[in-house]
Amino acid sequence: MTDVARTTATILRLGHQGDGVAHGPLYAPRCLPDEQVSGVQEGTQLTDIRIETPSEHRIAAPCRHYKSCGGCQLQHASDDFVASWKLGIVEKALQAQGLETRFRPIHTSPAQSRRRATLAVRRTKKGAMAGFHGRASGVITPIPDCQLLDPDLIVAIPLAEALAMAGASRKTPLSVTLTTSETGLDVLVRDGKPLDSALRSALAELAGQHGVARLTWEDEQVAMEQPPLQAFGAARVCTPAGSFLQATRDGEAALLAGVLEITKGAKRIVDFFAGCGTFSLPLAANAEVLALESEPAMIEALENGWRQARGLKKITAEVRDLFRNPLLPEDLKPFGAFYEAAVIDPPRAGAETQVAQLAETRMPVIAYVSCNPVTFARDAKTLVSAGYRLNWVQVVDQFRWSAHTEVVASFTLDD
Ligand SMILES: C[S@@+](CC[C@H](N)C(=O)[O-])C[C@H]1O[C@@H](n2cnc3c(N)ncnc32)[C@H](O)[C@@H]1O
Repeated sequence: MTDVARTTATILRLGHQGDGVAHGPLYAPRCLPDEQVSGVQEGTQLTDIRIETPSEHRIAAPCRHYKSCGGCQLQHASDDFVASWKLGIVEKALQAQGLETRFRPIHTSPAQSRRRATLAVRRTKKGAMAGFHGRASGVITPIPDCQLLDPDLIVAIPLAEALAMAGASRKTPLSVTLTTSETGLDVLVRDGKPLDSALRSALAELAGQHGVARLTWEDEQVAMEQPPLQAFGAARVCTPAGSFLQATRDGEAALLAGVLEITKGAKRIVDFFAGCGTFSLPLAANAEVLALESEPAMIEALENGWRQARGLKKITAEVRDLFRNPLLPEDLKPFGAFYEAAVIDPPRAGAETQVAQLAETRMPVIAYVSCNPVTFARDAKTLVSAGYRLNWVQVVDQFRWSAHTEVVASFTLDD
């Protein structure tokens, strides 16, 4: 056997995916800035890595699965290091647009708080095995002691395996999305066998045995013991299977606290990219809300939740594609008085056209929630150029141990 030549490198920074980056660039997964490492160079990747001189920020991963599992990227770094790295990402994105602001202390969701997980589940000779895909591999790593997920998701691993035994093909792993709800688990399965009557009744039986609130197989609901409800303020919403939810309840509460503070006192609020009402419904405790969202099923869920709740002010919910058909200044006029505040929480692409229209509308107060620092900074630049002040930004790390970053930010019109 020939010896493979090993390369040594010094890690200069972290890349977008949380990998260490050395001169080249050479990418070294799970390495930290200032570490001396050695490994085998394969193209731009370093593999078979040994940490020769560890960073002072390196810690023992809290989860025993971390070495093989691909679910987390940053368990080898201290919380303080990850916090300042994420803050730095947002700061640099703003600097690239010529902006600076005050940062509030980061809010990090605790371990075991992720409310949704998509497990890969494959049939084995003896039964089935559920877990996350391994690092850069298609191999499934079992995760019985996962430190990321809410324990209610972990206890459903046997259910995920039973679903695979009932309805996975031999070749393709099932994709099982588990979401916690007020009334039990909401389960969505993809890549399974086509439904027939035998499979339908086997699945319904499994759902009953495991106390599942709702089981959806591809696009068909096969069992509904109880509607799976999410609590948004005073409302309870039966969200469509697999539709967007903030990653943790704790992160959602931190984002909502920011949104409520920014929009405090406003009697009429527009909620752009409203989803199922995560912000609209709590806001409706004190304000009339116009909720805009492109997914009809989410708008229907929001409206149903609002109708069944007590004591909320009026919500007008509208299906609208805000990329193609942004709300224009003249759209707000029929409502008699101008809205006093806006909440905007777009997908990763940001909200370039809608933000430009908001600036033209002279909306006095804007709460901007974003999962992409780059598009956030671009849109912030549009607002600041139009005379808005960026008062503060808070990083809300509900994607603990991953490279994702979420922010809530306060803008007011400076005139
Ligand atoms: C980041 S999520 C936020 C949802 C909600 N604010 C919440 O916190 O749960 C973005 C939302 O924008 C919606 N969306 C995506 N593209 C859209 C578009 N072109 N027009 C309107 N809504 C869109 C998605 O369906 C999703 O509900």
